[in-house]
Amino acid sequence: MTPVVSQPVEGALTHSAIFITLTVNQGADDLQKFRDLCGDLPSLIRAVSFRSPSAGLTCIVGLGADLWQRLETGATPAGLHPFREINGVHHAPSTPADVLFHIRASRTDFCFELAAEIMSRLEGAITLQDETQGFKFFDNRDLLGFVDGTENPAGLALTEAVLIGDEDAVFRGGSYVITQKYMHDLTAWKAMTVERQEQIIGRQKLSDIEFPDDKKASYAHNVLTNINDAEGNQLQILRDNMPFGSPSHKEFGTYFIGYSCEPERTERMLNNMFIGDPPGNYDRILDVSNAVTGCLFFVPSTEMVDAIAQGEKITG
Ligand code: HEM
Repeated sequence: MTPVVSQPVEGALTHSAIFITLTVNQGADDLQKFRDLCGDLPSLIRAVSFRSPSAGLTCIVGLGADLWQRLETGATPAGLHPFREINGVHHAPSTPADVLFHIRASRTDFCFELAAEIMSRLEGAITLQDETQGFKFFDNRDLLGFVDGTENPAGLALTEAVLIGDEDAVFRGGSYVITQKYMHDLTAWKAMTVERQEQIIGRQKLSDIEFPDDKKASYAHNVLTNINDAEGNQLQILRDNMPFGSPSHKEFGTYFIGYSCEPERTERMLNNMFIGDPPGNYDRILDVSNAVTGCLFFVPSTEMVDAIAQGEKITG
């Protein structure tokens, strides 16, 4: 079996992150500019990160379903499709994006510098959809005040949760990622008692201790996002959510980003949150958090990013 090198999807939570989503303009030269960027990306990352390797700079590139078709690679990852809008008790929109850059580092300047280099290479060839600069907030808390990321898988469980294996052998070592930008109504959230907030999340706010199962509300966030396969094994994803905002514009948000070896996992969690399980028993975080974007990307292995740069067919 040929070894594959995955993009650094298994990375830990960092101090800073920049999330960029964009569409590639329709011209053949626009697509070529994107291919060229794919070829240059490893050396750009090396050049910026070498200035201080301790900053831990990484960049993941994800590709949307429409762009994948335009790249004419000859094969399509089994789970790749446009993000599916959800019309439940609350609405999860599907918004346009061909490419995701998920840039992470322990220092904001490293993220900023790499983002600037990438965007200057793509100038004229793309339409920016969104740029969000995330930051670490106290003890990895989101802006609702709860520690976010505690129950992420680690070790072998992490690898199994996020990387495609032999079930889609051509795309082994790849991953899928779903992103959603949420805006919070912090006035409404802060008007609730801490006990009510804890009931909604399913954990204690200050200590981050999880409630025992028999004390959790049926609509608690950690009940609705806890899903199993037919044998009762938990199906996990990796989240690297980041707070962002602009106090003077009264903007407070969470950028949700979830990696998994199959998008169905995150989609099931989203259905439970937005429609409810059973329907109507929805996630009350959504009463104070509005999803304004929704995108799904495939994250190819590094060899596959290189093949895309060269315009080669993907054969496995
Ligand atoms: C406004 C957006 C969101 C906020 C503020 C938020 C916040 C949190 C917090 C505070 C926790 C508990 C600590 C932890 O284990 O990380 C948590 C857990 C979790 N969240 Fe979210 N979350 C959001 C959206 C989502 C979405 C969209 C998904 C998936 C589609 C998701 C999936 C999960 C999962 C799988 C867990 C772990 C549950 C467990 O097994 O205990 N979250 N989230």
